[in-house]
Amino acid sequence: MNIHQAREFTIKRVKETLDYFYDCFPSEQSENYIYKKFKNVSWTTGFYEGLLWLAYEWTGNESIFKSAKHHSRLFGKRLDENIELDHHDMGFLFTLSSVADYKITGDETAKKDGIRAADKLMARYRPDVKFIQAWGDMKDPKSCRFIVDCLLNIPLLFWAGEITGDTKYRDAAVNHMNTAVKYIIRPDFSTHHTFFFDPKTKLPLRGETHQGYSDTSAWARGQAWAVYGLALCYAYTRDEGLLEYFDGVTEYFISHLPKNYVPYWDLIFTDGSGEERDTSAAAVAVCGILEMEKHRPRGDFKAAADKMLCALCEAYTTEGMDSNGILKEGMYSKKHGHKSECNTWGDYFFAEALMRAENPEWKKYW
Ligand code: GLY
Repeated sequence: MNIHQAREFTIKRVKETLDYFYDCFPSEQSENYIYKKFKNVSWTTGFYEGLLWLAYEWTGNESIFKSAKHHSRLFGKRLDENIELDHHDMGFLFTLSSVADYKITGDETAKKDGIRAADKLMARYRPDVKFIQAWGDMKDPKSCRFIVDCLLNIPLLFWAGEITGDTKYRDAAVNHMNTAVKYIIRPDFSTHHTFFFDPKTKLPLRGETHQGYSDTSAWARGQAWAVYGLALCYAYTRDEGLLEYFDGVTEYFISHLPKNYVPYWDLIFTDGSGEERDTSAAAVAVCGILEMEKHRPRGDFKAAADKMLCALCEAYTTEGMDSNGILKEGMYSKKHGHKSECNTWGDYFFAEALMRAENPEWKKYW
C-alpha cells in the first residue's frame, strides 16, 4: 500500500479497537499479532494515546476524541496515584498524552499534568553528573547511568520550560543533551545504548548495551532514538553544534540499512544473517529525519526516509492478518527473549511518520 492507504488502514485499525481499549491500553507488544488489554503501568502506554490523537487529527471523529480525552484523564490518575513512575520514561508517557492533549485542545488540566510529569522527570536529574538517571534507585551506585532513549524524554522538559518560564527544566535538558552527545556517540557515530558514570568520582566509566547485540555494536532502535532525539534537541535549542552529530548518527543508520531499507534489530546484522528486523527503529528514524528536514533540508536523508517509509507501507503492515496491531516485525528486545511482533511504539511512530510525510507542517507533540 502507499502512504495514503497506510494512513486509512491505520485509522481503520484505531476505529476497530476503540471500544475494546476504551478503559485500558494495549499491551506493550502483541502476542501472535494480537494486543491484550493492559493497565496503565508500563513505559509504553503513551503510544496508544498518541495514536488516538493522530487519528483524531486526521479524522475529527468524535468517538476517537472521547477516547483520547478519557485516556488523557487516565494519565492524570496515574500521576495522582504515582503508579510506576520512578524512571526516566516520563517523556514517552506524558508528551504523547497530557502534552498532546494540551497542544491540541488547550485543556488546562492536561497542561498541569504535563508539568507534574516534568517535575517527576526532574527528580531523576543528577546535577553531579549532569544527566537524567534512567532506572533504579537514585542512591544505588550501580544505577548511575543514562541511556540513549532518554533523548526522547527531554522534550518534556524543554516544553515545561517554555510553558512555565522556569529555566530549571531547560537547563537540565540541555545538560543531559550535552552529556549524551559527548559520551553516548562513539567516534564513528554509532551509539552506545547505555552509559555509566562513577557517582563517587563523577567520571565517565563505560558504555554498555541493554537491548543491543553487544557492547560494541549499535542497537538499531537506540541509533534511531539518537537520530530523532537529536533532531528534537535541535528544534528546541537551535544549537548548530548538534548538526554534525545528527548528520553522523543518521549517516551511520542509513549506511547500515539492508537492501530493503528496513533495519535488522542490531545494525551489526546484514542480509543473509537470518536475524529479525526492527520495523519500529525504521519508523522512529523516519520521524527524526522528517523533523530535521523542516529546519535543515538535506535531500539524501529525505530520500532514505522516503524509502524506509515506503518499505514499511508496502511490506510491513498487518493488513490482511488476524491482528489488532498496525506495524509488524518490530523487535522489543531479542536479548530478553521477545519475538518479532507488533509493538505499541512501532505503531505510534509509523503513524507519526505517515502524518509527517503527508503534512510536513504538522505540529509535533514532542
Ligand atoms: N525505550 C525502550 C525501548 O526502546 O525498548
